[in-house]
Amino acid sequence: MTKPVLFVTRRLPASIEALAARDFDARLTPSDVAIPDLLARAAGADAILCCPGDVLDDEVIAALPETVKVIGTFSVGYDHINMDAARARGIKVCNTPDVLSVATAECAMLLILAAARRAGEGERLLRSGGWQGWAPTQLLGTQVSGRRLGIFGMGRIGREIARMARGFGMEVHYRDQARLPRDLEQGAFYHDNDDSFLPVCEVLSLNAPGGEATRHWLNIDRIARLPQGAIVVNAARGSLIDDTALIAALRIGHVAAAGLDVYNGEPSVDPGYLSLENVFLLPHLGSATIETREAMGRVVLSGMAAILAGQAPANSVG
Ligand code: DGY
Repeated sequence: MTKPVLFVTRRLPASIEALAARDFDARLTPSDVAIPDLLARAAGADAILCCPGDVLDDEVIAALPETVKVIGTFSVGYDHINMDAARARGIKVCNTPDVLSVATAECAMLLILAAARRAGEGERLLRSGGWQGWAPTQLLGTQVSGRRLGIFGMGRIGREIARMARGFGMEVHYRDQARLPRDLEQGAFYHDNDDSFLPVCEVLSLNAPGGEATRHWLNIDRIARLPQGAIVVNAARGSLIDDTALIAALRIGHVAAAGLDVYNGEPSVDPGYLSLENVFLLPHLGSATIETREAMGRVVLSGMAAILAGQAPANSVG
């Protein structure tokens, strides 16, 4: 039987490329960076496996070959895909939910701890050769235990962060469109408005999806309502933050520290962050563990195969 043609836009873990080659007529790409000729390479494909950073906006989707029936994204976030345009073309989309929640939550905890304990500054000091030994006043940070953590977006990843943060003795608050059932809430305090939520966020973790609805949610006005000396972390999407506003707040210390894994316009990073000592920066590593990336590959490939077989898998998003 002829296998469906799958165009893969980036290099994948070896086991996942093998799986793709087993189940599809796979056109693999030996590159870790976005390729310029996505449209040309998609010619004749039934399915496209893309990544965050591959921009599938309305123009690209409109220009995709007629043969394309499904787009799978190697991510849970799908804000890089114009869903209206995909729907208009009758192209189904699937993603990689659940399997990356723990890894991404671990990354958010890393950002929280690194920002609170000035890990970036400490590492830079050591590597520069400037460390002169232990000192009672050196690089004093903030203990997270006993602090209030505010989670903006209490989906699967937000709930994992809440679980982990409880282990660190943090009091968990969250803001979302609706309150969770008690068993998922696990004692976290729900806020249905910014006025009650923002002032309790000694540590604010952004975990909502990207896209127009949340663009620059953390703006100058909301930052002003955070407690003096708050810590801000973002392992969700760069678009949630107005960088100019956050950089200004970090400069004056209203926000004491930030931990960022994601950026507006990746892979560019606002240069304002690069000169600030009180920012800990990672290059979008949220789901970057071997076991997670392999699980993501299995989930997205099986979703695409199911859609091509006329089924509606659980990871179909439109
Ligand atoms: C996702 O899945 O959306 C992540 O950001 C990729 O690591």
